[in-house]
Amino acid sequence: MESGNLTFTMIKPGAVSNEYIGPILSKITEAGFRIAAMKMIKLRTAQAEVFYGIHRDRPFFKSLVEFMTSGPIVVAVLEKENAVEAYRALIGNTNPEEAKSGTIRKLFAESVSKNAVHGSDSDENALNEAMFFFSRSEIFTKDGEVMMAAN
Ligand code: TYD
Repeated sequence: MESGNLTFTMIKPGAVSNEYIGPILSKITEAGFRIAAMKMIKLRTAQAEVFYGIHRDRPFFKSLVEFMTSGPIVVAVLEKENAVEAYRALIGNTNPEEAKSGTIRKLFAESVSKNAVHGSDSDENALNEAMFFFSRSEIFTKDGEVMMAAN
């Protein structure tokens, strides 16, 4: 089974307002990821509700949507071999208290809810999340193609 070479990330409102965009992008590029697409946006409530729809019935859903719409975010598509797994390792545990030292969440997250960054959890979700924010013509991969993950 071959893994995909793209993942999707968001730098969340708390990290943006704390001026961590630059430091986080440095960690990402130092870890060998290419930035294939990137922009700064503010999520509308309906968008955040759709993006996090899988968590609709969780107790934290309302506060998650409120937080994610509270200020601008950076959305980006990252390219690297085995990108989803490699990026999940770089960002660390959802809860920064449990994240390993040196991970992005350990360094920049405030709490489990204000946890600095999002990273896709599967190749399928990476493609879906990338296409939620970007058209194919806005994603600049190394070989010029946005491949569907082979599985
Ligand atoms: P989840 O998919 O479990 O984590 P991850 O982002 O590491 O894939 O949860 C999605 C987001 O929901 C998480 O990044 C922050 C928020 N969240 C909370 O606000 N409180 C919680 O208790 C949990 C588990 C998540």
